[in-house]
Amino acid sequence: MENGQTSRQNIAVYPGTFDPVTNGHVDIIRRALQLFDRIIIVIAVNAQKNPLFTVDERIEMISNCFADLNGRVSVETTDGLIVDFAVSKGASAIVRGLRAVSDFDYEFQLALMNRKLERRVETVFLMTGFRWIFISSSIIKDAAKHGGNVNGVVPDHVKAALEAKFS
Ligand code: COA
Repeated sequence: MENGQTSRQNIAVYPGTFDPVTNGHVDIIRRALQLFDRIIIVIAVNAQKNPLFTVDERIEMISNCFADLNGRVSVETTDGLIVDFAVSKGASAIVRGLRAVSDFDYEFQLALMNRKLERRVETVFLMTGFRWIFISSSIIKDAAKHGGNVNGVVPDHVKAALEAKFS
């Protein structure tokens, strides 16, 4: 590859808003590590969203989830196209999680557009773990905002960050 990579590592990017990272995301990343040598989590811009957490807060929350993985997971940001970011990092794939049929239309569109933009990068879908199919960052934020217990759907440090935001 002509992107400055010195080894032939199999790299994937996992893009999203991660506002905040949930146990569902963590599950996808841990399973993607069985397919790829390295995962680069990319905090990207979805113009439809107005995040609660700053980019730095989101980077810190995600990084705390993977401190045990000896650098196989890293977190970066981009305000450009995911496929351009992927090519610049020597990544061969974009990983996305599918929770339910309702995710499919959007993900299908996104994957086909990304393929049109850049044929060298494939999209790989992983089924979200059964325990996480009902959660999303928005639902968790809404529950936390109204004092609901978000134990078990986000890592403990994310739960603490949500409580601090809404206290
Ligand atoms: N478990 C739990 N929840 C999950 C999940 C999982 N495994 N996978 C996704 N979700 C939830 C997220 O929490 C998020 O919830 P929310 O909508 O309540 O915030 C939702 O599913 C989907 O969000 P996410 O995966 O973060 O995607 P997104 O739609 O916010 O972002 C981008 C999509 C950032 C990847 C896309 O906009 C993008 O690629 N932007 C960069 C520009 C670009 O390249 N555009 C494409 C050109 S066509």
